[in-house]
Amino acid sequence: MQSRNVSDYKEEIDMSLVTSEKMLLDAQKSGYAIGAFNVENMEMVKAIIAAAEELRAPVMLQTTPSTIKYGTLETYVAIVTAEAKKTSIPVALHLDHGSSFELAVRAIEEGYTSIMIDGSHEAFEDNIAVTKKVVEAARPNGIPVEAELGKVGGKEDDLEAETDTNTDPMEAKEFVDRTGISSLAVAIGTVHGFYLKTPVLDKERLSEICNVVSVPLVLHGASGLSDKDVKECIRRGICKVNFATELRVAYADGIKKLLQEKPDTFDPKSFGKAGMENVKNLVKNRMLICGCDNKVL
Ligand code: 13P
Ligand code: ZN
Repeated sequence: MQSRNVSDYKEEIDMSLVTSEKMLLDAQKSGYAIGAFNVENMEMVKAIIAAAEELRAPVMLQTTPSTIKYGTLETYVAIVTAEAKKTSIPVALHLDHGSSFELAVRAIEEGYTSIMIDGSHEAFEDNIAVTKKVVEAARPNGIPVEAELGKVGGKEDDLEAETDTNTDPMEAKEFVDRTGISSLAVAIGTVHGFYLKTPVLDKERLSEICNVVSVPLVLHGASGLSDKDVKECIRRGICKVNFATELRVAYADGIKKLLQEKPDTFDPKSFGKAGMENVKNLVKNRMLICGCDNKVL
């Protein structure tokens, strides 16, 4: 297993945030995955970076359009940059499920260092067109782009897929070749949010995609997947795993428990600490499953 010196990463982007490019390529080379964690507030940012620091794991923090609507791009950039500057761990800030070309460009302008454009609900050619446009805008800034082909089911943010449409390997190859993306999110039976019944993942399909596509592959909808499934997907070529819902639940559970034990609590700092503790423990566990610990010297 290869570890990188901190300086290898930090030469990028004004010594604070790094792009996701190097970390995903390293993961691909060495057969592990980067954990990508959705954040909503300062406490979640601090908890995830603390977990990454303890485990010496490169990390991606990401926000969806609805989170951005809640907190604004510049506020998340400011919080994540300030926290990243305090650590020697490489931290990337990623736009998750970017919903338009305009939002992708604004995120780059504000300082996001990694972008997803999600045209998966569009027809194949339209998905290619919007993705290509984002890649062309991002490339001069050195920002890598993730896109999605096929549909991950369930509800993430304001997007809802009615049925699962898994990624076709040959279409995936054509999509990557024609768009020039840096990473590809695949649909293999995962769903956003918790699972109502045990998911059946099309792992053979994942291997087939991995055989014909050279860029790192991304797994969405990891909340509620078994450790065994996540590890098996990484073995078959997944290099980035997205965790969102279960972090929000962990954060809320910490606060609920505190309120049960001490119903008179009123200091937001007490709520924040209770939430952070839970999120940090969960993130450390997920990083160990991804195998991204001890990758930074
Ligand atoms: P979950 O909410 O199922 O963890 O999905 C995370 C995700 O894919 C974020 O893009
Ligand atoms: Zn997702």
